[in-house]
Amino acid sequence: MDKMTDTGSASLTIGDKTLSLPILKGSIGPDVIDVRKLYAETDCFTFDPGFTSTAACESAITYIDGDKGVLLYRGYPIDQLAKQSTFLEVCYLLINGELPNAAQYVEFERSITTHTMLHDQFDRFFQGFRRDAHPMAVMTASVGALSAFYHDSLDVNDPDHRRISMIRMIAKIPTIAARTFKYSIGQPFVSPRNELGYAENFLRMCFAVPAEDYKGNPILARAMDRIFILHADHEQNASTSTVRLAGSTGANPFACIAAGIAALWGPAHGGANEEALNMLREIGKPENVPAYVQGVKDRKYRLMGFGHRVYKNYDPRAKVMQETCHEVLKEVGDANDPLLQVAMELEKIALSDDYFISRKLYPNIDFYSGITLSAMGFPSEMFTVLFALARTVGWISQWQEMIADPQQKIGRPRQLYTGPAYRDFVSVDKRA
Ligand code: CMC
Repeated sequence: MDKMTDTGSASLTIGDKTLSLPILKGSIGPDVIDVRKLYAETDCFTFDPGFTSTAACESAITYIDGDKGVLLYRGYPIDQLAKQSTFLEVCYLLINGELPNAAQYVEFERSITTHTMLHDQFDRFFQGFRRDAHPMAVMTASVGALSAFYHDSLDVNDPDHRRISMIRMIAKIPTIAARTFKYSIGQPFVSPRNELGYAENFLRMCFAVPAEDYKGNPILARAMDRIFILHADHEQNASTSTVRLAGSTGANPFACIAAGIAALWGPAHGGANEEALNMLREIGKPENVPAYVQGVKDRKYRLMGFGHRVYKNYDPRAKVMQETCHEVLKEVGDANDPLLQVAMELEKIALSDDYFISRKLYPNIDFYSGITLSAMGFPSEMFTVLFALARTVGWISQWQEMIADPQQKIGRPRQLYTGPAYRDFVSVDKRA
């Protein structure tokens, strides 16, 4: 860490005091003004709700150029990784910084596949939930509960403990996600199979039933793997920042990932793919698209799966997702699926409409992921669970980077206080 370089300074005048603030340069991307000494020297804070202009940390994992529509994991473009790599290779890359050589890959794959089982007692934990609980509620609780089952690896200051916890998280999260799904549909849990690939094993745990032999579909397994790659990391988004903030207190990694899953659940973040599919269903047919778009322009509702805080161009993940969507529908669905027709018409109309053009609103990854996952057999309540499964490696990589960072401090934002300045307590009999 600490690869940033000093490239000059910015001066800030407050009253009669002028302060010189260092400007730091990363390897690519915008420079940052280092305001760490601002409060000590001026008694002022910066004000940036939503962190639209704030770099909260130094990181060497993921880079986004939102204006150009670029996403790099450790320098590699997302489309190259999605088309040429595998999810486990991407996991290795995100955690270690480099792609594995053949021997490193074999060893990493072995360590993941031999940790996929859950403690037997963990299964009883699921029985406590109502069958109609939202799978994300079950995910948040059960991932948090991992710290109650694997407390032999919770010392965040021990690099060995951190490594074991990371492996456990990546290995066990598909088993938990699949059990969450099986529990919600009232089917028996399916144990992991170590000879299968990561995505293949996950699909089997979701869709195999004891009454018949399960036959995997390589096209769907490849699509699942690609969807995991596309969701693996995304810089300092809301859930990742939540993981870092929780981790900055020294909380154990399972608790931190559970916090990340909770943050991901919201419809403005990971919950958007569920909302996007619901929207396409509500529109129903391509003829209804113009009226729906008019409703968006009249600000009655937002176009789900459109727009992004960082991308002011086509989300590079959405391009690969669109291709994957076509492949999956050709294999298991209907290439003329009315929902796909609605999505394509909506995209066409929105991309040529000034409301969307002037606000730089483009499809994001969630626009096509809902249709794809639905065609693969997942109910919409599971979409965010799949996102959480894939993002776990990003969260854990960012958590590890933060713990190892010598500049790391407990995250403690300040505020612009606008409440009462001071008042004396009034006893209840004297209150109006
Ligand atoms: N539909 C219609 N108008 C929109 C949309 C949308 N989806 N997104 C933004 N706008 C408008 C918004 O009304 C505002 O217009 P104006 O300036 O006239 O008031 C302008 O665009 C800027 O919006 P904003 O809310 O300031 O932008 P933001 O950067 O805070 O919001 C966002 C980003 C993702 C929350 C938002 O675009 C949104 O709500 N999109 C729909 C939900 C969605 O698809 N989320 C998934 C994000 S990708 C997955 C992930 O990384 O988690």
